[in-house]
Amino acid sequence: MLLFVLAGCDKAPDDKASQRLDAPSQGQLAYESHCISCHSNSINGAPIPGKPKMWASRILQGVPVLVFHAINGYGLMPARGGKESMSDTDVEAALKYMVN
Ligand code: HEC
Repeated sequence: MLLFVLAGCDKAPDDKASQRLDAPSQGQLAYESHCISCHSNSINGAPIPGKPKMWASRILQGVPVLVFHAINGYGLMPARGGKESMSDTDVEAALKYMVN
């Protein structure tokens, strides 16, 4: 799994490319580059995108609180998912992709 995580860790997506209709969004790229490693398998109970029951009580806190938790860490979730180099913008975009 470590290799898989490292493989996704290159530079941030080009803004213009991510705005093309056929291109994945910045949030999807950010999610797939990192957050997916825990959140697709519910590692330590990480909520899985696309499973509304896992998110319902969390979303009730409001998106700004979720963004704060994603950036600063929450319970077993490390700050920025453990990727220090990830920008606030990318963490927020990934989070919005996940809850949508
Ligand atoms: C190392 C594993 C791991 C990675 C990587 C990870 N998460 Fe998490 N995440 C968790 C776990 C575990 C929880 C559940 C925490 C809890 O409820 O105690 C969680 C919970 C969350 C929550 C819910 C917080 C709340 O207030 O209920 C959000 C939002 C979130 N993660 C966003 C992200 C984003 C965005 C990324 C990528 C930048 C990411 N996570 C990467 C493990 C991870």
